[in-house]
Order: sequence, then structure tokens, then C-alpha cells
Amino acid sequence: MGSFDLLHRQSDRRATYATLQGLTWSDELSAWVSADPEAIRAALRAPEIEVIDFRSVYATLSERFSIDFRPTVQVLDHVALGLNGQPHHEVRRRQTLYLKSVTEAALAAYGDSLAAQLAAHADSGSFCLARDLAFPAVDAMFGVLSGFRLDDRGGTSFSSIFDRRLGLNRRKAINEGIARLIAGTEDPVALEGVLTRISLSVVGADSLYGSLTQSLRQVLDSHPGRPLARIDWPAEIPATAVPYVDRIARQTVTIAGTRIAAGERVRLYVEALKSGPDGPSAGLFGIGAHVCLGKHLSIKAWQMMVAALRSHPGTLTVTEHRFRPNDYLFNADDALIVAVS
Ligand code: HEM
Repeated sequence: MGSFDLLHRQSDRRATYATLQGLTWSDELSAWVSADPEAIRAALRAPEIEVIDFRSVYATLSERFSIDFRPTVQVLDHVALGLNGQPHHEVRRRQTLYLKSVTEAALAAYGDSLAAQLAAHADSGSFCLARDLAFPAVDAMFGVLSGFRLDDRGGTSFSSIFDRRLGLNRRKAINEGIARLIAGTEDPVALEGVLTRISLSVVGADSLYGSLTQSLRQVLDSHPGRPLARIDWPAEIPATAVPYVDRIARQTVTIAGTRIAAGERVRLYVEALKSGPDGPSAGLFGIGAHVCLGKHLSIKAWQMMVAALRSHPGTLTVTEHRFRPNDYLFNADDALIVAVS
């Protein structure tokens, strides 16, 4: 079996996914891996298998290197994706309510940005769908959702805190970026609000931005030379920036005939669920207790992107794309150049 480390980046990864039955041990990742829909569903629903509490990772780093990672840990206290049990229920409930209250305004800001960016770029000979369209629109959305602009992250991507391979210097830079955003907010209730908003940006901004870039590229590449208005655009977002999720077994459990010992990790390629019986984008947003809270918002954002592009009379051809560098977690393009004809 080839390398799993960057399997999610390979253009032919679906062929590899198809060969993976049940769970397979990877020495390279020190984890079980699975791209088998049945095994993934079973693992995501098993109470013995939990999300990874990233706070313990930062507690260890703080101790080992004498670095004050408290700002990162404060945010992680509000990130549903790293919490289990009752703390998870509470954070998830609070974020659901908050998201409901801001979704309409966030989508309006996103739509305004799409219109403005297309007007500015789509009649030039060439432009970048990532930097000139998807990024500004997601930035405008998250300006409303999280109260700060993505460039205020100090050149970092907060969602990289989930990246197992992230180096210490980048962890420090993210920590400093978070510290700047929460500085001066003393009132505990106000601080709760700020941390909730930062945590949504941590989980949602790169997921949506990256998924838009992967989906646009996939659709344009599969319709070469077709005018935007005549493309058969999928109703739901077709590709994801979040190809896998990681889990850890708290207790020994058997999944798809494989015994996973307490403390062992599991990597589940949720993007392999995509074309299963659950519908076109079902697996892309996860399954079970941690299913994505931004699903509705993201599908709507895709539909608005499609509507904006459909109204353009031209044809877009991808001439160059580049994955975001130093990222072992997300599939996101930081360049997606198209020629306009
Ligand atoms: C197309 C874009 C998106 C994709 C593909 C995506 C994918 C996912 C996936 C796979 C999970 C489950 C992770 C796991 O089980 O470990 C998840 C969780 C989550 N997503 Fe998204 N996401 C997207 C956009 C968003 C947006 C825009 C937001 C917020 C505005 C958001 C907020 C969340 C939250 C809060 C969770 C954690 C839920 C929990 O742990 O209870 N997501 N997402």
C-alpha cells in the first residue's frame, strides 16, 4: 500500500479508496485508515470512538517548550470539533443558535462580494477564481460571522491548529494571532462571544473556501469549452476541502471486523462517502454527533456561486492551479487561474 500521508492530494485517490476494504493499519500515520463507507459510518457512530481533544496537544507543547498557548486553548474550549460528551453538546447548541441568527446577513455579504468581484474581474482576459472570487466572498461572509477579516489572522490559517504536522513556529504565529483578536476583551460574556465567533472561523472558513475552489475546478475541468450558462452545474457542492477526519478510540472496539485498541487513532476518508446512498454531498459534511453545522450555509453559498457564474456570458478554462502550501489537512487552492473567452 502506498503512502497515506498525502493520499488525499492525489488526483487518482478514488481508485485507491476503492481498494480499501474495512480498516487498514498505516505505520506511516500510526493510525487505522478507512475509505470504506460502511466502516466509516460505523466508526463515526461508535460511542467508543471520539474526536481528538486538541487541548491536550497544546497542553503538552506548553509544558515541553514553555510557551503560553492559553489563547489557542481558550478557542479550543469553544471548538465543537475537539470536544466530546456534555461540553460538546453545550458548545454545539450555542453555535447552532448563533449561526441561525447571523446566516442571512452572512449570505448577503457573501452575495454582494461575489457580484462585485465578478464585475471587477470576469471581463478581463484571465483571473484567479481562488484569490479574486472565492476568498473575498468567504472573507465577507466570515467578516459577518466571526467579526474579523481573514487577513487579520496575521498571515496564518487558524484551522491549521488541527494539522498534526504543523510546526511549532506556525503554532506560535496562530496563537499570537488569536491573542491579538481577544486582547482587551475582559468582560466574560463578551469574551465568550468573541471565542465562539473565532471558533467558527477556525472550523468553517477554510472548509468553505477550499471546498469552493475544489468544486469550481472539478466542474470547469469536466466541462471543457462549455459556456458558464450551459454547464450542468451540480445542485449541491460537489467537492470538499475536508477529505478526511481523524478520531481516537477511548475504549477498545471492533469496527468492520477490526479490533481497534483504546488509544489508537483512526483516519476516515469521509469524501469517499460522497457518492453513496446518502445523496450527493451527504458524506462531505460528516455523520453523527459532529455533523457539520455549516452545511446549509455552505450548500447555499455554492448555489449562489453557481447563479453568479451562470449569469456570465463567457467560458472559463482553468490554466493553472496550485494547492495552498504547507497544508497537510485541507485541499484548498491558493491559485486557480482561468482564461476568460
Ligand atoms: C463546504 C464547506 C464545508 C465542508 C465540506 C465541511 C465539512 C465538515 C465536516 C466533514 C465536519 C465533521 C468533522 C468531523 O466529524 O470530525 C464538519 C464539522 C463542522 N463544521 Fe463544517 N464544513 C464546511 C463548512 C462549514 C462552515 C461554513 C461552517 C461554519 C460557519 C462550519 C462549521 C462546522 C462546525 C462548527 C463543525 C463541528 C460540529 C461539531 O463538532 O459538532 N463548516 N464540517
